[in-house]
Amino acid sequence: MAIEIVATGRYLPARRVTNDDLAKTMDTSDEWIRSHTGIGSRHIAADDEATSDLAYKAALDALKSLNPENPEAEAASLDLIVVATGSPDYYGFPSVACIIQDKLKAENAGAFDIQAACTGFVYALDAASSMLMNGDRKRALVVGADILTRITNWDDRATAVLFGDAAGAVILERTDAPSRGIGKRGLIRSILRAQGSGAQELKCARGGTRAPFKKGEVIDQPIHIYMNGRAVYNFAVKAFTDIMEQLLEAEGLTMNDIKKVVPHQANERIIQAAAKRMNIPEDKFFMNIERYANTSGATIPVALDEYARTGDLEKGDIIMMVGFGGGLTYGGCLVVW
Ligand code: UT7
Repeated sequence: MAIEIVATGRYLPARRVTNDDLAKTMDTSDEWIRSHTGIGSRHIAADDEATSDLAYKAALDALKSLNPENPEAEAASLDLIVVATGSPDYYGFPSVACIIQDKLKAENAGAFDIQAACTGFVYALDAASSMLMNGDRKRALVVGADILTRITNWDDRATAVLFGDAAGAVILERTDAPSRGIGKRGLIRSILRAQGSGAQELKCARGGTRAPFKKGEVIDQPIHIYMNGRAVYNFAVKAFTDIMEQLLEAEGLTMNDIKKVVPHQANERIIQAAAKRMNIPEDKFFMNIERYANTSGATIPVALDEYARTGDLEKGDIIMMVGFGGGLTYGGCLVVW
């Protein structure tokens, strides 16, 4: 048995904001943002859009690629919905997964969220595929969705320019193809790691049970992300290379066996540094950060969808997905297409 990705989808909010647009309201420039991050523009959710709205549209896009005429009919066959998000509609419940389970009328599906920040989609893929492998369930929807611009500190130019909003989705299916040996298919290896000791370097510190908003308190700042950019940068380069090397070693592969790496899109310079460390060409990595910036849990499924739709991926190709983020979390997986 194998767990294969049978469909992909994505959704980007309509409003596109360029670096020049940002430079009109904060002390920054297109030149600084591009040269330090590779970002050229980002999409920002409309005021009336919440994370579940983005997640629902990405899910529908993936279901449409299975059945363009009747995507809703495909939703009825879902056994499981897992949403990776660090910026849910509500802090607490209901989960984003439950909200879209209702919208999709996926009556037979269990639904829950996973919170592993920007690594969330890699964690969710592993969780969903393990659940498909071990149970009666056959089909899962896995979504990465975030609206980080709503919890961005717009007074801090070093973080505000980095983020955008998006959602990406995949449909996983348990098939009869082998997951090991000749002809293997699907998700063949996954590594998940965390370094909780680095939690303070990237966090959203208010609003939870540790520091709840109190009755009568004057809130002069919206709840927002704090980040020690340099510390996260250094962690990220090491996390990327460690995970890539461990995945290759575990499967007895070299980078030559990998068709493309679909990495978390946080900063183009992190990818360049990882490529240099591993002595591999930068074009091994599929990049779209220039257009979308860092969309957190959505970067990997959005990039995977874009890459899959280029037509470059053929059955049997091996791809690698690698991520890192708040927690600190990191991880990656290998998929035989
Ligand atoms: O998925 C989430 C994970 N997060 C990340 O991946 C972030 C990882 N870290 C980074 O990508 C980089 O650390 C940043 C892009 C956030 C910052 O780049 P940096 O090269 O580490 O810049 P810096 O923070 O050391 O700042 C250098 C200079 C400072 O000015 P001075 O003190 O040298 O005069 C900053 O004030 O750049 C200034 N600066 C800016 N200037 C124009 C910081 N942000 C901006 C800005 N526009 N937006």
